[in-house]
Amino acid sequence: MQNTFDVAVIGAGPGGYIAAIRAAQLGFAVACIDDGVRTDGKPAPGGTCTNVGCIPSKALLQSSEHFDAAQAHFAEHGIGLKDLSIDVPKMIARKAKIVQQTNEGILYLFKKNKITFFHGRAAFDGKKEGGWQLKVSPLSSDKNEETLAATHVIIATGSSPRALPEAAFDSKRILDNEGALALTETPKRLGVVGAGVIGLEMGSVWRRLGAEVTLLEALPEFLGVADVAVAKEAAKLFKAQGLTIHTGVKITHVKSSAKEVAVEYTDAKGAVQKASFDKLIVSIGRVPNTRGLNAAAVGLALDERGFIAVDNDCRTNLSNVWAVGDVVRGPMLAHKAEEEGVAVVERLAGQKPHVNFNTIPYVIYTTPEIAWVGKTEQQLKAAGIAYRTGSVPFMANGRARALGDTRGFVKWLADATTDQVLGLHIIGPMASELVMEGVIAMEFGASSEDIALICHAHPTLAETVKEAALALDGRALNF
Ligand code: FAD
Ligand code: NAI
Repeated sequence: MQNTFDVAVIGAGPGGYIAAIRAAQLGFAVACIDDGVRTDGKPAPGGTCTNVGCIPSKALLQSSEHFDAAQAHFAEHGIGLKDLSIDVPKMIARKAKIVQQTNEGILYLFKKNKITFFHGRAAFDGKKEGGWQLKVSPLSSDKNEETLAATHVIIATGSSPRALPEAAFDSKRILDNEGALALTETPKRLGVVGAGVIGLEMGSVWRRLGAEVTLLEALPEFLGVADVAVAKEAAKLFKAQGLTIHTGVKITHVKSSAKEVAVEYTDAKGAVQKASFDKLIVSIGRVPNTRGLNAAAVGLALDERGFIAVDNDCRTNLSNVWAVGDVVRGPMLAHKAEEEGVAVVERLAGQKPHVNFNTIPYVIYTTPEIAWVGKTEQQLKAAGIAYRTGSVPFMANGRARALGDTRGFVKWLADATTDQVLGLHIIGPMASELVMEGVIAMEFGASSEDIALICHAHPTLAETVKEAALALDGRALNF
């Protein structure tokens, strides 16, 4: 196998595999090394996103949403169902199939783009005439260590779940994202530590399938990263769905036994509380994967939080070594990782790419979905920026009424003087798709009036996006 390359990418998650493909398109000789492994020993490229993140979580969200709709909403459409049931192992098998198809799709793309794939764990082994030397350790004893050399190395090793100091993951009762996505039956009592993105998405899956879900969040306010109006609406809707959310919690003790997992915590008032669960998902953020790279030996600098230190262009302190995605600063999102990976290799090809952190969209795939881009109202207030806001509920939208989902609203934020769009915040049906209107508006430096002037198809949910822009100028037509 070829072992000298222009570019070697460590990690085949969305940051790594997309960088490898773009590098190959640009004419570089490319290697990609990944240690993801399927239960049958075959490679599982795609990283967290494909194997235990974005894709499998959305598969389970879809299955559980169908179940919820059949249980709670079909009757209002006149559809009768007898003996509704959920076969959790079948739902998990469907998810596994989607993951496997994605793994195979990535291997196909590697082949198509003539990328040399190494299945193993990569570590730096110094620098020689031919460039950076990498060692690839095999994942099974019947394979041998391999070595390769590359002029440029892109580190895209991703992140791993952060454990509670009080309790390690045991894959039985105390679960990380991987465990949360692999349950074979619905737990009766599900505890979730951390009411962030994973907590809300996974809590929603298992709540829809019948679990009693309690989320324990350390911060005093719920969903502080979202716009304050969206967070308030989300708290109200999630409570109505049956999710119990306690904020201002401090976990003091966790004990897992054969029967259950017992959690002791202090509540927002400082009172000691005790709760018992059948399963406990811990989703309190993630830590960068830098161990095993032999980073210290080659002098690769990390920042104070343990991420690989990079400049705006994803350049590390080592010449020709770059890092992208979850292993560096910034939001831990697949699309952010991809953009960084593409930008790095385009820079190597002499182009002048740019990743605009101000227009990265955020989505939480709950029901209703939550999505936003740009500044929140509280951020604008804190920065002393004068703004105007226009907000319209989906209740006023004909398509939403036909869909039977009128929860939530669309809210634009625009500069008070120039009318330039500063943010778009949506809670409601298909928010994940609608938010792109805000991303495009911000990328093109549009004003809210530009959005209000654009003809939107009728009847669509997107009409609420236009209507909210009209509302910003006090001239909404349907609300
Ligand atoms: P990763 O995807 O983590 O890939 C890194 C790869 O490198 C892995 O395969 C790893 O095993 C491998 N690796 C590490 N070290 C080595 C080594 N030394 N040698 C060889 N290989 C190595 N983001 C979204 O944008 N949308 C979502 O809906 C979404 N949902 C998520 C749901 C969950 C439950 C989780 C946990 C995450 C979710 N994310 C989502 C976040 C998203 O998965 C990450 O931001 C994204 O995967 C980061 O990509 P990456 O390429 O940086 O790293
Ligand atoms: P997160 O940062 O979204 O949420 C973690 C939550 O845990 C926060 O609210 C935090 O205050 C809380 N917390 C921290 N320590 C705690 C403690 N000791 N006790 C109680 N609460 C505590 O991180 P999460 O949910 O683990 O997800 C990790 C990453 O994966 C996120 O950065 C996110 O970007 C990404 N992701 C993205 C998704 C999407 O785009 N739809 C879906 C799922 C994950």
